Amino acid sequence: MEHLINPKVKDIEISGIRRFFNMVSHYEDIVAMTIGQPDFPTPLSIKKAGIQAIENNQTSYTHNAGMLSLRKAIEQHVHHFYQLSYKAEEEIIVTVGASQALDITLRTIIRQGDEVLLPGPVYPGYEPLIRLAGGKPVFIDTSENGFKLTGDLIEKNLTSKTKAVILPYPSNPTGVTLSETELREITNVLEKHKLFLLADEIYSELVYDQPHTSIASFPSVRDQVIVINGVSKSHSMTGWRIGYLLAPSWLCRHILKVHQYNVSCAASISQHAALEALTNGKKDAIDMRETYKERRKFVVERLSQMGLDYAEPDGAFYVFLQMPLNGKTTFERAVQLVEEAGVALVPGDAFSEYGQGYMRLSYAYSMDTLRKGLDRLERFITLDSSR
Ligand SMILES: Cc1ncc(COP(=O)(O)O)c(C=O)c1O
Repeated sequence: MEHLINPKVKDIEISGIRRFFNMVSHYEDIVAMTIGQPDFPTPLSIKKAGIQAIENNQTSYTHNAGMLSLRKAIEQHVHHFYQLSYKAEEEIIVTVGASQALDITLRTIIRQGDEVLLPGPVYPGYEPLIRLAGGKPVFIDTSENGFKLTGDLIEKNLTSKTKAVILPYPSNPTGVTLSETELREITNVLEKHKLFLLADEIYSELVYDQPHTSIASFPSVRDQVIVINGVSKSHSMTGWRIGYLLAPSWLCRHILKVHQYNVSCAASISQHAALEALTNGKKDAIDMRETYKERRKFVVERLSQMGLDYAEPDGAFYVFLQMPLNGKTTFERAVQLVEEAGVALVPGDAFSEYGQGYMRLSYAYSMDTLRKGLDRLERFITLDSSR
């Protein structure tokens, strides 16, 4: 019967991250710096809001777009932090994590054969969703440009089939983000070519040296932009599965149809918890950010002392470091690191071919773990240079 399965699904491969984990899962005494989620427990008041929702029997379907109170909190949140103006009643949808927001947006806009541009290296979640929706992902090499997508790079890769661009900054896996000036340049190209742009800003609250600028804050492109965000990373709520999207009402109306028939609504209990996160839980997010900031400083200092090159990380909780390959593939080198040094980093080619020669180090770990892992990495690098 297997031949009867949708070929688009059959063609999807397991992610490079999963392949790597499968390969190294049987090793013991490994210091892993691989994880892509916060290491903090969800803050207490947020957990209590979830418990309270259960006790109050707030356990039925909500409005398809999410509870109005939560959408209003999102409206205020994005206005306060990013100067965005989206109406709770018709321009905001509460989703099942940022992941579902991506899926329903792509399925709403993509027609068979449409091309979607995305900067490589990139989070591996986009490609399968684009393919399942009938589109074709077109990866743009940003490795020569500090891992930043530019208006020029977009223009060079445009064809008559280009439908949309994915703009995922701050970036997983590089930690790099774009400045206001760099975003403005992209808006010029966007206006000229009438493309959609999906701004995946899930790490927007984890930017360390300057406030995050959303591309949707440029009025000239507001009608083309869909902002994707959520509480997974900002409030350590990955398992609660609450994200949201912002889009102009004419587009939101159509995305909402896909959302409605896909999930009806996000889980009511989690919506109550997210409401607490975005109202009374602001300080929790700031405290976690401060901790990541200290860890980032520690990690980049250690990497510099080892003489390793890395992309300067502005945000998220990743450092993308260059690893001399010594004749091996990136994947083989990551496995060697596990076998010989007892350290796990995600091989950069798990984020498209443009991540070759790099490893992603996550600092969503305690200082003790980071210190131990970096000590091991240092010993490996020293040994390596004497071979
Ligand atoms: C860039 C990026 N977008 C989206 C997601 C998915 O977020 P969520 O857990 O809210 O679905 C992740 C998760 O790692 C991510 O790194």
